[in-house]
Amino acid sequence: MMRVAVFISGRGTNLQALINVCAEEDTPAEIGLVVSNRPDAQGLRRAAAAGVPTVAIDHTTYDSRASFDAALDAAVRRARCSTICLAGFMRVLTGDFMRAWRDRILNIHPSLLPSFPGLNCHARVIEAGVTISGCTVHFARPELDSGPIVLQAAVPVLPDDDAGTLAARILEAEHRIYPMALKLVAQGRVRVVSERVRIHDAAMAGDVLVNPAGV
Ligand code: GRF
Repeated sequence: MMRVAVFISGRGTNLQALINVCAEEDTPAEIGLVVSNRPDAQGLRRAAAAGVPTVAIDHTTYDSRASFDAALDAAVRRARCSTICLAGFMRVLTGDFMRAWRDRILNIHPSLLPSFPGLNCHARVIEAGVTISGCTVHFARPELDSGPIVLQAAVPVLPDDDAGTLAARILEAEHRIYPMALKLVAQGRVRVVSERVRIHDAAMAGDVLVNPAGV
């Protein structure tokens, strides 16, 4: 049974999706701890409601990124977790932390990486006029929103979209692919070879997403 620590900073809807998938009998994973850098994060209440242990590690009370990351590391190890899922976690982790947990930190980003990394990606997607965006689950590397890609979902951008409507549409796809990725990793079907992800025996998508879809 793989024990997972989930790092959050806010609402925790991706956390909720991960809690839900761990309740499925073919997911050999359990969430051992939810960590938030913000004590008031709504996701902490979601975790408590699900009976998942929580801890708030407030980054503003640490005098360096290194000491904050050391507190995170200690909490995860104390909870006997072997994998970390970043789910709307808004702090940049140090390279040392990333290296200590290499290939054991998953992250979800609401764009088709490597396009549109970083914050406010939806506004930049709309500004760029692309017609297809999406979301990406990847193993985290020290460089922000980079690392071997596990799963992606393509989501259409509509002409009257603003950042909020696009974010909401992509969030639904996030809630599908993050649980899928966690299940695959927990089942031992995911390997990283030369910075590329290999998934054992996964059914690949067949249909193409075209947007606009017709004339
Ligand atoms: C998600 O869109 C995630 O991709 C991004 O921040 C948002 C977090 O939402 N990093 P939630 O806290 O999981 O609801």
